Amino acid sequence: MSRITLKVNGRSVTVDVEPDTPLLYVLRNDLGLNGPRFGCGLGQCGACTVIVEGEAIRSCITPVEFVEGFDIITLEGLGTLENPHPIQKAFIENQAAQCGYCINGFIMQAKAFLDQNPRASDQEIIAALEGNLCRCGTYLRILQAVKQYQQEVRL
Ligand code: FES
Ligand code: FES
Repeated sequence: MSRITLKVNGRSVTVDVEPDTPLLYVLRNDLGLNGPRFGCGLGQCGACTVIVEGEAIRSCITPVEFVEGFDIITLEGLGTLENPHPIQKAFIENQAAQCGYCINGFIMQAKAFLDQNPRASDQEIIAALEGNLCRCGTYLRILQAVKQYQQEVRL
């Protein structure tokens, strides 16, 4: 066990864990942040995506020691039920979720990408989201939601 200090959603937290524990397990099990989901556990579906130093990463295959001291944002760091972030509002307004399991991943991946590429084309957005899988096949509504959010970041 090691004491590892993380900066999550703007707050500093210290956990006692094995350094090679996946970041996803620490977020969910030690910190109670259940926005990021366990899908494949292999870096292949995107359900576990979080934003580290502005980049979308797969937390299921990221050892917690690798992100010590970095700025980590989870879905909980974006908005609340009462005051959702604009990208969360866009997903709600476009009814982009069916079972909702993949939605954390799409939101975090799209936000990280559009914050850096606000003028991306549809094709570039689709390419950026290619590694995120939705077993319900809600891709069209997800794309509509992401494009609605893009209108706001472009302003
Ligand atoms: S759970 Fe991490 S990519 Fe699937
Ligand atoms: S909405 Fe069910 S997996 Fe995407």
